[in-house]
Amino acid sequence: MRLLVTGGVGFIGSAFIRRCASAGDFEISIIDKLSYAADKRRLEEYLPGVEFYKADLAERADIEEIIKRARPDVIVHFAAETHVDRSILYPDQFFKANITGTANLLAAALQSSVKKFVHVSTDEVYGDLPADKSVKFTEASPFRPNSPYSASKAGADLIVRAYQKTYGLPALILRPSNNYGPWQFPEKLIPLTIAKALMGEKIPVYGKGRNVRTWLFVEDCAEAILLAMERGGAGEVYNIGSDEEKVNIDVVKGILDLLGKGHGLIEFVPDRLAHDFRYALDSSKIRNELGWRTKNDFATGLEKTVRWYADNRDWLFAKKAEIEGFLKDLKARFAEKA
Ligand SMILES: NC(=O)c1ccc[n+]([C@@H]2O[C@H](COP(=O)([O-])OP(=O)(O)OC[C@H]3O[C@@H](n4cnc5c(N)ncnc54)[C@H](O)[C@@H]3O)[C@@H](O)[C@H]2O)c1
Repeated sequence: MRLLVTGGVGFIGSAFIRRCASAGDFEISIIDKLSYAADKRRLEEYLPGVEFYKADLAERADIEEIIKRARPDVIVHFAAETHVDRSILYPDQFFKANITGTANLLAAALQSSVKKFVHVSTDEVYGDLPADKSVKFTEASPFRPNSPYSASKAGADLIVRAYQKTYGLPALILRPSNNYGPWQFPEKLIPLTIAKALMGEKIPVYGKGRNVRTWLFVEDCAEAILLAMERGGAGEVYNIGSDEEKVNIDVVKGILDLLGKGHGLIEFVPDRLAHDFRYALDSSKIRNELGWRTKNDFATGLEKTVRWYADNRDWLFAKKAEIEGFLKDLKARFAEKA
């Protein structure tokens, strides 16, 4: 099967390709614009067997040309700008990459004979929830995105739906919750906390750290995407989440405990604008229909993750150094608005 993966050298895309490489007979191509978040080292041992196209999905003609050449049976679309804080500072970049980019890819896919189009959306399209644990988002929950990132992903998600309904493109949509694991760029909570803890630096925690996230180990997410690609029907939507709701401050303390560092490193900082309070997904559909189960509970996944970063601290520290200026800028801009 010819498989085209967009955003294939990003965090989740690369985990998905590693999973596919061990699953069987795929001829894999990647489209990735190699943004700051990309890193080919995530796939070092696999890239020799992969057709790599450096291209920006916002460039329609380039994408059409690549799809004609690669003739994929299946497209799995991960490529996106993904960091909520960056979307607050530079919203237009998110609308261009995530909305225009997705629309271009869909148009090119429609012209080709693609048999399945798997769109990786996000749980953030639903907006946020109150603390009441009995309330969760189902696939039928309305969209109420609160950040430019989630709004751009909601736009993309709806355009995929429209291509399926209007033109019969065999598309399905996946909405995963917060992923974590090896190789994640250290602007996201878990790897940033590990990096700062290992370096003995203060760890910024928004507000009082009371926000709740449902954490999903990246290998479990890759497994769900593979299952949905193989067995999910056109027009279907699947939430992908564990049931492991964690308060951010407890996640940070858990990492410090694993590294043997004191909680005194925690520093509360002014809250992110429109910071979503709680995300929680009802993922019974993918469990019941496709038989998906997580293999890593949060304690196991976090331990593996912390160990991986501690063993790969050169990569982690180099990535953190690349974004030092951005992190300072962000702190100043949010402090101004607080
Ligand atoms: N990380 C999470 O917790 C999470 C949770 C739910 C959903 N998602 C979704 O999963 C997907 C992958 O997330 P991730 O964390 O791996 O992201 P990432 O930021 O690590 O990687 C994104 C990749 O897409 C590429 N890219 C970005 N814009 C592009 C463009 N215009 N053209 C071509 N390539 C482009 C980047 O170069 C990068 O390699 C995204 O669509 C994201 O919205 C992520």
